[in-house]
Amino acid sequence: MRISKKLFEKNKRWAEKVKKSTPDFFLNLSKQQKPEYLWIGCSDSRVPANEIVDMLPGEIFVHRNIANLVVHTDLNCLSVIQYAVEILKVKHIIICGHYGCGGIQAAFDNKEHGLIDNWLRNIKDIYRYHQVQIDSLQGKKEKINLLCELNVVEQVANICHTTIIQGAWKAGQKLAVHGWIYSIQDGILKDLDVCVTNLDEISQIHRIK
Ligand code: CO
Repeated sequence: MRISKKLFEKNKRWAEKVKKSTPDFFLNLSKQQKPEYLWIGCSDSRVPANEIVDMLPGEIFVHRNIANLVVHTDLNCLSVIQYAVEILKVKHIIICGHYGCGGIQAAFDNKEHGLIDNWLRNIKDIYRYHQVQIDSLQGKKEKINLLCELNVVEQVANICHTTIIQGAWKAGQKLAVHGWIYSIQDGILKDLDVCVTNLDEISQIHRIK
């Protein structure tokens, strides 16, 4: 099946619109990228990084996967983080989850989903760490939304524990890691207030001397 020409037509119109408002936009962007932000978010089509924070191409470096996880052995995510921190020298890393995340819901249930269950197991671990707190809530939706928030907090910790982030802090690089959550229902972002900015703020167990 051929892809609809519609996408190419939409692209052309978009490029023309951008050039009309800023004639040198693409020329300037083609010379370099200097984003201040790395965004690690969910692949969910309703949570597009640039649009949510109203940013143009060139302003935000993006990595997305199912349920916005930073897994210690994920070379893809780790490579993005290394490039963003060491080469682009981003100042902020945002882990952004969202309420009602399908990945979190799938991890919450005990159904079989195939290969993806191996990825979702990382989320089940977080559920296990916080089971008393999560199970104390009444509704399933509330439980899942709490797990969405706790997942963000956990991924903030995971990224801070990497040798990349610890190395940057040791070298005196200014770098803050933030945990946010997005509501698909109203388009609003919430800061979970778990910002980490230096080695002293991470757990002793993970700190590399
Ligand atoms: Co999601």
